[in-house]
Amino acid sequence: MISTDHLNLSTSMNKLKTISKLLVVLAASSLVLSCRKAIVEPYKKWGFNSPDYFPAPVYNFENNKQDFKKFTLGRALFYDPLLSSDGTVSCASCHANSHAFAGHNTALSPGVNNLVGTRNSPSIVNLAWSPSFMWDGGINHIEVMPIAPLTNPVEMNESLANIILKLKASERYKKLFREAYGTEEVTDQRILKSLAQFMMMIVSNNSKYDQMKRGEVSFTATEQQGYSLFQQKCSQCHTEPLFTDYSFRNNGLDLTFSDQGRYLITQQSNDLGKFKVPTLRNVLMTYPYMHDGRFYTINQVLEHYNTGVKHTSTLDPLLDNGIPLTASEKTQIIAFLRTLNDDNILTDYWLSEPKE
Ligand code: HEC
Ligand code: HEC
Repeated sequence: MISTDHLNLSTSMNKLKTISKLLVVLAASSLVLSCRKAIVEPYKKWGFNSPDYFPAPVYNFENNKQDFKKFTLGRALFYDPLLSSDGTVSCASCHANSHAFAGHNTALSPGVNNLVGTRNSPSIVNLAWSPSFMWDGGINHIEVMPIAPLTNPVEMNESLANIILKLKASERYKKLFREAYGTEEVTDQRILKSLAQFMMMIVSNNSKYDQMKRGEVSFTATEQQGYSLFQQKCSQCHTEPLFTDYSFRNNGLDLTFSDQGRYLITQQSNDLGKFKVPTLRNVLMTYPYMHDGRFYTINQVLEHYNTGVKHTSTLDPLLDNGIPLTASEKTQIIAFLRTLNDDNILTDYWLSEPKE
């Protein structure tokens, strides 16, 4: 069903070989200079990949068939600050591959003119399985999703019409649009479909947990104990293998809701203070936590479930008694959560910033 045609790739692959050699040198030097993960040669063939223990994706690939050239355009757009009003902010400014496509470890990621909104930038992995977007689920299609950050005054603060003008004037984009769609014409549809092509490819499926699921590795005793505890206490909401069931719930953060969450969309009082259950894939890399980034450490999150759950009428019934956890249980759960780190998405060549 999903096109895995790699024919278009041969010329790009030749270029890549030269680039990769350069990258190996760069990688070696950046390892010496800092601990940041170096981008390495493509470790896998380009293409959408859904392991057999994942459910079927909800994204309809039939209406936007996987295509390397459209993906390449989307990748360029995702990393390009040209899309913001003052040329300083790109999608990647708040969804960085070095941070598992979440924000740069700040509670609220700054947009243009260093303005900030009210919510924490979520990690945008495995969106092909997500039936809704935003903490309150206010957007239900990935192909309209980018309009929100592009036009939001505290994010990229730009109009689609102006973005189209800027892209039309760019030789680089004339070429990319022609290669992807046959003509140089820049339309909002083409921009949005291409961004969706890129985002669909941000798939996290090679953590230690995944390798364990595939029988390639086994967990240590502590990881296994953490996994059992997780299955008893967390997985009703953070459901395997995507580590969310995509429902909206109140996990007891507040007694009064400065951000009303799901209620803003449904206007139903029983949705007050409910937010989308976030995935826990790569969770140790995506701090700070919760819709407003209030907790900086995973220990604070576990302590919240242990002793901090606030009782309101919309509190999820599963949390009526909180989730009592001893110190050693916390250690075990953290050991398990660490197995959800997927270093591949940090270093995946195809997901990294293109070198033009
Ligand atoms: C200034 C920071 C910022 C920029 C720039 C930004 N985002 Fe986001 N992004 C956020 C925040 C914050 C949220 C959560 C917003 C909410 O829930 O109201 C979000 C949510 C999302 C989501 C929903 C994820 C989910 O699982 O619900 C997607 C998809 C997304 N952004 C894609 C993009 C794309 C594509 C761009 C570029 C066109 C972009 N973002 C630019 C901060 C940013
Ligand atoms: C009743 C459902 C439910 C249960 C049970 C639950 N969670 Fe959550 N969890 C949520 C919701 C909802 C959020 C988002 C709340 C918000 O931001 O307002 C969340 C957020 C989180 C976050 C923050 C993730 C991020 O990216 O911001 C972590 C970490 C987390 N939970 C871990 C756990 C662990 C570990 C357990 C078991 C000890 C657990 N949760 C049990 C519903 C639940």
